[in-house]
Parts: sequence; structure tokens; C-alpha cells
Amino acid sequence: MDALPSFYDDLDGFRAEGWRCLAEGVENRRSPFHTPTLATVDAVGRPRLRTVVLRAAETEAGALRFHCDRRSDKAREIAQSGLAALHVYDGRAKLQLRSEGRARLHGDDAVADAAWAGALAMSRVCYGIKPAPGTALAAGDAYALPGEDPEARLGRENFCAVVLTVERMDLLYLDRRGHRRAVFFREGEGWRGSWVAP
Ligand SMILES: Cc1cc2nc3c(=O)[nH]c(=O)nc-3n(C[C@H](O)[C@H](O)[C@H](O)COP(=O)(O)O)c2cc1C
Repeated sequence: MDALPSFYDDLDGFRAEGWRCLAEGVENRRSPFHTPTLATVDAVGRPRLRTVVLRAAETEAGALRFHCDRRSDKAREIAQSGLAALHVYDGRAKLQLRSEGRARLHGDDAVADAAWAGALAMSRVCYGIKPAPGTALAAGDAYALPGEDPEARLGRENFCAVVLTVERMDLLYLDRRGHRRAVFFREGEGWRGSWVAP
């Protein structure tokens, strides 16, 4: 039988493992943590889900960042509610992570400028799409993208970075010998955590 992971009965270690996986997911395109599912609610409280690319995980600040088009539904929903959640399940690690908190759009500030500066040309180009994301088309190809000129600011006006400041993180590790689940709440600059029934 496999050895139990070091965080199995270590609450602080479990939280650290969650953040380690998120940080690794930013760098490693093959990690399930690279492409979490983002949840928002619409104006009438309907849940909405979609995949995003995780761009930053700041362990100390308890913050996660992804990018989106300001014209998109998700941007509108985050602007309205100020709330979002991210979910990942890593089947190989048998680890589910859910993080919930306050989400803020950054369109014209230093956070957005730095994120845009760090974005690849092939990513930037998506923000120049016309018409806006979600617009009905007469045919599947009835949209246009600007050229991939790395100097172009095309699309910058539509780009925004979203920072999710995590207030609650729920980790679930699956094991035949007994699952382990813990919930962590942000308190000041630290975390208050406890084991919970899986
Ligand atoms: C692997 C993958 C990665 C994606 N990454 C992003 C992303 O980082 N940002 C984004 O806005 N949409 C991303 N998308 C597209 C969204 O999942 C979604 O289809 C689109 O943004 C429209 O969402 P909305 O109408 O809820 O705003 C990605 C989709 C896939 C399949």
C-alpha cells in the first residue's frame, strides 16, 4: 500500500500543500491546477462555471490571479457580486481544492499593466476579438482577431486581471484508509483551520 502523504494528519502541512499545488499550477501547464474552474453567480444568483488559466498564486497574501476580457459575462458577474470561487480536482494526487473569496477586476492599474506586460502575444491577441465574447454570430467563423504583433496594444482596453483574495479554502484528500478534509479561513495575515468530516 502507498505511503500516506506527509500532510495526511498535519493541518498546517495540508494547507501548505494546497498552496504549493497552486503555485506549481501557475508554472506547470500539465498540472490540473493550471486550469481551475471559476465559479461566479449571475445577477439572479444562478451559478456559472468556466475554465480559466491560473496566472499567479501568492501564498503569503492568500491571493490568486487570472485574466479575462472585460466584456465577458464573468467580468460582469465579478463586478456585480465582488465574489468568486475556484475549484480544482487533481485525480493523480487525489486532491480537491476549493477556494472562495472576494474578487476584484483590475483594468487600468499597475496590477493590470504588469499582467499585460507579462502576457504572451498569442494570449494578448484574444482580447482584441470582435465582436465581444458571447455575442451571437451568423456563422461560427464570423469573428475577427487582430494580428499577433507583440508591440501592439490592441486588446489592452479589453484586458483585465482578476485577483481572488481567498477567504475560505476547503481541501479534500481521498484515501482508502480514510479521507482527510480541512477548511481554512483567512484571519488577518494568517489562517484558522480545522479538520472537518469529509
Ligand atoms: C483550457 C482553457 C483555458 C481557458 N482560460 C481562460 C482564461 O484564462 N480566461 C478567460 O477569460 N477564459 C478562459 N477560457 C475560456 C472560458 O472557459 C470561457 O469559455 C470564456 O471565457 C467565456 O466565459 P464567460 O462567458 O463565462 O465569461 C479557457 C478555456 C479553456 C478550455
